[in-house]
Amino acid sequence: MKISIEKDYDSLSNKAANRFIELVESGKIKDIAFPTGNTPKLFYKKLVEFYKDEKVNLSGVSGFLIDEYYPIKKESKNSFNYYIEKKFFTHVKLKKKYSLDGNNPDFLAECKNYKELIEKKGGLDLVILGVGENGHIGFNEPGSEYNSRVRLVELKNSTLDINRAKYDAGKVPKYALTLGIYEIFKAKKIILLASGSSKSERIRDLFNGHISSSLPVSVLRLHSDMEVILDKEAAVLLEDQIMELIN
Ligand code: PGA
Repeated sequence: MKISIEKDYDSLSNKAANRFIELVESGKIKDIAFPTGNTPKLFYKKLVEFYKDEKVNLSGVSGFLIDEYYPIKKESKNSFNYYIEKKFFTHVKLKKKYSLDGNNPDFLAECKNYKELIEKKGGLDLVILGVGENGHIGFNEPGSEYNSRVRLVELKNSTLDINRAKYDAGKVPKYALTLGIYEIFKAKKIILLASGSSKSERIRDLFNGHISSSLPVSVLRLHSDMEVILDKEAAVLLEDQIMELIN
């Protein structure tokens, strides 16, 4: 596992954007799954700036949204489709954009199609991830099986409580569609971003302790090409021995 510990959120975002450009420019990374949430906001802003300055060509990249609330319309300001369009997709020219439609009444067909689309591509080249305070990756909540696939999930109260701070109280979606742990883990490369002390326990779990489906993030320790970009606050609980190895 490759770890970078940056001094703050700004330099974490800068590092992530530069790393992303390097990987895309290598020509090997084409099918990429993108996260939403607070963590990657500045990463997208920097990426869009780099794109406008012609520092990266994304015409070979297909973008996949990792998850989406259910049910929700794409145009809803609370939807992840809205988020990724507004923060990233509309500002750049990608080869293709794919997302889960949280408004498809046939969610089984929606999940099956997304799963098969990724399978046809031979899996994803890169998944960029955040981590939930309860250890979820994408919307694979604690208890998700390692071989879970694209599916509808019921969100845990711990996630709903955090979402309540982001949405009007009555409007917190209770379900979501998400890539499974299988699709995430099968990606050739994974980059995880975490900022702030609220993520520090989960970052400690990523390096220490049991690998368990009750902490989905812990399974990423087994991935063969995993990169973690943190700020100092997110890394604050890492043990001295780990810090010595990194430095
Ligand atoms: P956050 O969400 O970036 O808003 O903290 C991360 C996640 O829940 O995966």
